[in-house]
Amino acid sequence: MAIIAPSLLSADFLKLQSECNMLNESEADWYHLDVMDGRFVPNISFGPMVVEFFRKATGKTCDVHLMIEEPGKYAEAFKKAGADILSVHLEACPHLHRNIQQIRSLGMQAGVAINPHTPVGNLADVLADIDLVCMMSVNPGFGGQSFIPHTLDKIRQLRKMIDERSLPVKIEIDGGVTLENAKTILDAGADVLVAGNTVFKSADPKATIAALKCL
Ligand code: DX5
Ligand code: ZN
Repeated sequence: MAIIAPSLLSADFLKLQSECNMLNESEADWYHLDVMDGRFVPNISFGPMVVEFFRKATGKTCDVHLMIEEPGKYAEAFKKAGADILSVHLEACPHLHRNIQQIRSLGMQAGVAINPHTPVGNLADVLADIDLVCMMSVNPGFGGQSFIPHTLDKIRQLRKMIDERSLPVKIEIDGGVTLENAKTILDAGADVLVAGNTVFKSADPKATIAALKCL
């Protein structure tokens, strides 16, 4: 069964308490929290202080996706804020292995996110050291974009790499996930579906989460 991780980026920030209540009552598994610095991506969202509020609002796993340069400078702050999973972008990390070691030594699960143009083969030498690959299926920076179809080939390739080595790494798909394409994404080998607009802009977010969950 898929892990469903609604992205709070698409939530109504004037109604965060009720958005969190809805998620807590729903079948959502994780909170997906998108941190953007205006440098690695052309948008700015929120930082550790806001993650800490989400931490207080839920007992669910807080899955923090860092779209920032020099993530190593902030790993400890996100641990203190209550992140369970911390993902850094491969493209932002010249010393990726060091970042992974740091995240794990702080007691969090380590994720590596890759942009649409980054081949999955670039993950080969860290795959045994991480818990999650956050595969971007849109260019990072904004919610509400369309799924890039080539991602499906990348999911199949990565699934094969993981299974051949019997690794416990989860594949998370982030961007443009809809009720229409989610089943195809799961069939290609994904474990975790991030969904922003599909959940928060739907007439009945809880029902939408349930529909994603039972695919
Ligand atoms: C994009 C973020 C995503 C985004 C997904 O940079 O990483 O998590 O919020 O939003 P949707 O599901 O609307 O594409
Ligand atoms: Zn994300």
